[in-house]
Amino acid sequence: MAVNLHGRSLLTLKHFSQQEILYLLDLADRVKTERRRGDIQQRFRGRTIAMLFEKLSTRTRCAFETAFGEEGGHPVFLSSNDIHLGVKETVEDTARVLGRMFDAIEFRGFDQNVVETFAECSGVPVYNGLTDLYHPTQVLADLQTLREATGGLAGKSITYVGDGRNNVARSLMIGCAKVGAHFSVAAPQSLQPDRDTVQQARSYSEDSGSRILISTDPAEVVPQSDAIYTDVWVSMGEEQQKAERLELLAPYRVTVEMMRSTGKAGTIFLHCLPAVRGNEVTAEVMDGPQSRIWDQAENRKHTIKALMIGTLLR
Ligand code: CP
Ligand code: NVA
Repeated sequence: MAVNLHGRSLLTLKHFSQQEILYLLDLADRVKTERRRGDIQQRFRGRTIAMLFEKLSTRTRCAFETAFGEEGGHPVFLSSNDIHLGVKETVEDTARVLGRMFDAIEFRGFDQNVVETFAECSGVPVYNGLTDLYHPTQVLADLQTLREATGGLAGKSITYVGDGRNNVARSLMIGCAKVGAHFSVAAPQSLQPDRDTVQQARSYSEDSGSRILISTDPAEVVPQSDAIYTDVWVSMGEEQQKAERLELLAPYRVTVEMMRSTGKAGTIFLHCLPAVRGNEVTAEVMDGPQSRIWDQAENRKHTIKALMIGTLLR
């Protein structure tokens, strides 16, 4: 069956099938090749996207803005200091107004309900650029990078080490389970992914053949991994927990020794970035030969462009 994503929003990868995810990754590979060749395309000519940010961003903002702009579209950046978001008018009303003016909306913020309200009320495709719960556009780039580096997805294994219940870890678990990649988490008990998300991921695994493992001990899940992935120990909005996290997560730092303990010379290192060098990962690993973090950051743009082409154009 042909894939048709026209008009769809991306709020979490739970709503996308394996076939739809692979379709977006193939499209991302194509737009990456075009970009490398220097092809000029104008696929978003005459179109506009509203980009709403309650939290800071380097990669997500720049990926959306450059991907839309270089295709001839007009992105409009709006921080929460610029508009009446949930202040003076309801989120529903803001969504209705933006939907009358823009072809699409990107939202980065705290509450997943807000991005869902935008999708319900605006009438245009809405893209989740990160909430406290999910970061689905990140995972598209992660999967593109894993596939480029290892030649596949199904049967490959990613081990996530660190804060296993944050937006990136949860989204990655969903994405891997959908495409048939094995996903393991090494995290302290209190920072393991919630039971519902694990159960849901395991239900996707029944179709895809993926295996989901949760452990407190990196030594139990790191061996044989094709990729080691980590993210910051203190996500945006959780700054008050910094001292506690630093202590709790110190044994989960990704080091050269941990990379070696996979037993595979070809294991890659991934991180969504921004990274705090010396906390969740040493500078030696980030800058070392196994690191694919710059490809991963670049792939944000190609996958986001693919998402917008897939959902905005017929
Ligand atoms: N990975 C990521 O989302 O980075 P930014 O916070 O810079 O957008
Ligand atoms: N977990 C991080 C991801 C940043 C891209 C955060 O939410 O701050």
